[in-house]
Amino acid sequence: MAAVEPTSVADVSDGLRRADYLPGESTALVAFLAIKLGKPVLVEGPAGVGKTELAKALARLLDRRLVRLQCYEGLDETKALYEWNYRKQLLRIQAEAAGTGWDAVQDDIFSEDFLLARPLLQAIAAPEPVVLLIDEIDKTDQEFEAMLLEVLSDFQISIPELGPVVATTHPVVLLTSNNSRELTEALKRRCLYLWLDYPALEHELEIVRLHTPELDAAIARKLVEVVHMVRELDLKKPPSIAESIDWARALLLLGADDLDADTFRSTLSVIVKHRTDLDIVAERVGVRLGSLAGGALAAE
Ligand SMILES: Nc1ncnc2c1ncn2[C@@H]1O[C@H](COP(=O)(O)OP(=O)(O)O)[C@@H](O)[C@H]1O
Ligand SMILES: [Mg+2]
Repeated sequence: MAAVEPTSVADVSDGLRRADYLPGESTALVAFLAIKLGKPVLVEGPAGVGKTELAKALARLLDRRLVRLQCYEGLDETKALYEWNYRKQLLRIQAEAAGTGWDAVQDDIFSEDFLLARPLLQAIAAPEPVVLLIDEIDKTDQEFEAMLLEVLSDFQISIPELGPVVATTHPVVLLTSNNSRELTEALKRRCLYLWLDYPALEHELEIVRLHTPELDAAIARKLVEVVHMVRELDLKKPPSIAESIDWARALLLLGADDLDADTFRSTLSVIVKHRTDLDIVAERVGVRLGSLAGGALAAE
């Protein structure tokens, strides 16, 4: 299949929609620039607003393989770049006839056959261009970020025993962050920046309807209105798009024909997941739903 190369922002926007992702205004623009300028994009925002999905959708749009590095505390180079396969090396050493000199064995066991390529090396060494997702970079430490900078600025990885591995194709790189810590200026300087937030009501409704087209349109609208109301409250963890979609699926499964106070109370835990938040929401929103008895929630 021929490589897909979007030629305009509108192209990217349409392509993302075809890949089941409904981009906000700046999303398509930043994605287009990233593809054209070959610069990594840092996507920041609260959990569950479509950061990871954007990378997946871009891979579908560009018809490229997605290589994903999931970050976590303590992630190091052996899990991000590469690692020698010690067990295989040891087996080879044992299998060698006693007469073989160390030099010969050493040349052998530090060859590509004994290398375990982790996501960053996989992305750099891939013969076809890929989309590289470095997910939740804020979970790692600053040393890791520094190492990453080198990879992202040179698109090359040096392996002392083998020499440098240089990218022959240019990956589209997305880094995501849930904003749990401030990232370094050095990293930000090298990236384009996209802030994803909770979407506007109509946009979120469109996303919910995309994921649950079978759900009654009036219920879907009410659901999104309620979620927006809940987000206004001072909660530990406001519901995200992910929760809206889960809630829509739950209501569909339960065959709910209205989002009344009872349905709301019994399914509340799908969108609110902290003990104290539950109390606040049940009280503030539950009461309101009860008094509206089926009517629209429209502006008050
Ligand atoms: N713009 C969008 N278009 C379609 N689906 C979306 C969009 N934004 C979020 N979603 C959906 O919301 C859910 C959460 O998205 P995800 O990418 O996992 O969030 P994040 O990585 O920001 O925590 C996924 O099911 C995703 O498909
Ligand atoms: Mg994510």
